[in-house]
Amino acid sequence: MKGIIFTQFLELVEDKFGLEVLDTVLDMSEDEGIYTSVGSYDHKDLVKLIINLSKVTNIEPTELQRVFGQVIFLTLLGSLPDTASIGHSTSTFQFIRHVQDVIHIEVKKLYPDANPPIFEFISETKTNMVMDYKSARCMSHVCLGLLEGCAEHFNEQLNVDMQPQTEDGSSVRFNITIN
Ligand code: HEM
Repeated sequence: MKGIIFTQFLELVEDKFGLEVLDTVLDMSEDEGIYTSVGSYDHKDLVKLIINLSKVTNIEPTELQRVFGQVIFLTLLGSLPDTASIGHSTSTFQFIRHVQDVIHIEVKKLYPDANPPIFEFISETKTNMVMDYKSARCMSHVCLGLLEGCAEHFNEQLNVDMQPQTEDGSSVRFNITIN
C-alpha cells in the first residue's frame, strides 16, 4: 500500500491523540514509523496500527477507519494532477464513478504495486446508488469515510447502509442515499 496512506495515518494519530499515543501505538506494533509517501508497504502493517490504536483509545477499529477516510479524502484529491483530479464531477455519485474509471486506474498505472479497491455499480438514480466495494484489503470503513469526505466536498448529505456480502468483508454492498 502506498506510503501516503501511512504518513497521513500517523499524522492523524498525532493530531488527534498526541505524540505519546502515537509512540505507544508504534511500540505496540513494533513499527519504527518510518514511511515515505512514495514508498510501498504491506497493508497489514496499517491494520496492525489501527488495531493497536483501538486498544489504546477504546475506539472501535471501524470508527477509526471511518474517520481516517473522512480526513484523507482532501489529501488524496490534492495529490492528483489538475487534469485528473475532479474530472467533470459536480456530485458524489459522479465522482465515485470517476474514481473507479479514471483515478484508481491512473494510480495502478503510476504504481504497478498499488492495489486500490474495485467498485461494481449495481443501480443508480438521482438520489440513490447501490455499489459493491471489492478489495482483499477489507477496508470498507475507510471507503465509508472517503465517501463522507467526498460528500462534504460537494456539499451533499449522505445516508449509507453497508451490507457485507462475504464473511471476511472483502465484498460489501453500499446503498447510498443523498438526502
Ligand atoms: C470517493 C472517493 C474515493 C474512494 C471511495 C476511495 C476508496 C479507496 C479505498 C477504500 C482504499 C483503501 C484500499 C482498499 O480498500 O482496497 C483506497 C486506496 C487508494 N486510493 Fe482511493 N478512493 C477515493 C478517492 C481517491 C483519490 C481522489 C485518490 C487520488 C490519488 C485515490 C488514490 C488511492 C490510493 C493511492 C490508494 C492506495 C492504493 C494502494 O496503495 O494499494 N483514491 N481508495
